[in-house]
Amino acid sequence: MKLKTIPRHVAIIMDGNGRWAAEHGLLRAEGHRQGVKRAEEVIKAADELGIKVLTLFAFSNENWTRPGAEVSILMKLFNNFLERQAGRLAGSNIKVRFIGRNDRLSGYILSKMRALEEKTARNTGLVLVLAVNYGARQEIMDAARLFAASVMAGSIRIEDLDERMFSGYLYTESLPDPDILIRTSGEMRLSNFLLWQLSYAEFYFYRKYWPEFKKEDLTRVLRDFQKRQRRFGGIRPSK
Ligand code: IPE
Ligand code: IPE
Ligand code: MG
Repeated sequence: MKLKTIPRHVAIIMDGNGRWAAEHGLLRAEGHRQGVKRAEEVIKAADELGIKVLTLFAFSNENWTRPGAEVSILMKLFNNFLERQAGRLAGSNIKVRFIGRNDRLSGYILSKMRALEEKTARNTGLVLVLAVNYGARQEIMDAARLFAASVMAGSIRIEDLDERMFSGYLYTESLPDPDILIRTSGEMRLSNFLLWQLSYAEFYFYRKYWPEFKKEDLTRVLRDFQKRQRRFGGIRPSK
């Protein structure tokens, strides 16, 4: 496949595991298990396609409101993912970064997350951003707190704040904004994902459930992206 413009940053809301399972007469847990497999394939595909940053929404702040049994399964699958994939990611020159709050996650999982970040910190290939225990409003509030603290410490003046500086206080500090947002399962909402960073992203609301999403679906989105005209408020398309 020849593509003129490869997006620098693709963000995905991996949604529909539960509904996929229900429609196949399976338990939701099986949907999540398949979902993790698709995530692993999409990470590989994004790397092969030359995408620089891939952000996957894996667990939201609001997902804690799900029944305890479901949360436990999700955490168990996440833990297995960390164990199984750590070596492969590190060996494939992929740099892993987690965004979200640290609270509520078990110390056991947190230490594996930190270890994977450290292990891959010097890698120079695909940057894989995993949003776990993530909420965009919480991220913006955390940034506001950090900014206020720097003002109070006297290191920054209020009038110096601009978009660039504020972006630097977000969890996504130093990453480019997503060019593309994909949400599977047909839902057309953001569910508290990257509210600041998605200002000028191209949106793809994809009908398939996440466990059905393959490399071909990603390339289809990338192909369609070639035809989108991004104007960023101007009058001429610019890429
Ligand atoms: C996405 O699938 C996975 C997570 C949110 C963790 P869902 O579990 O939301 O599946 P549906 O939306 O209920 O089908
Ligand atoms: C968004 O999906 C969160 C993740 C994919 C991790 P949800 O399934 O939680 O979103 P809502 O509840 O349908 O808005
Ligand atoms: Mg859902």
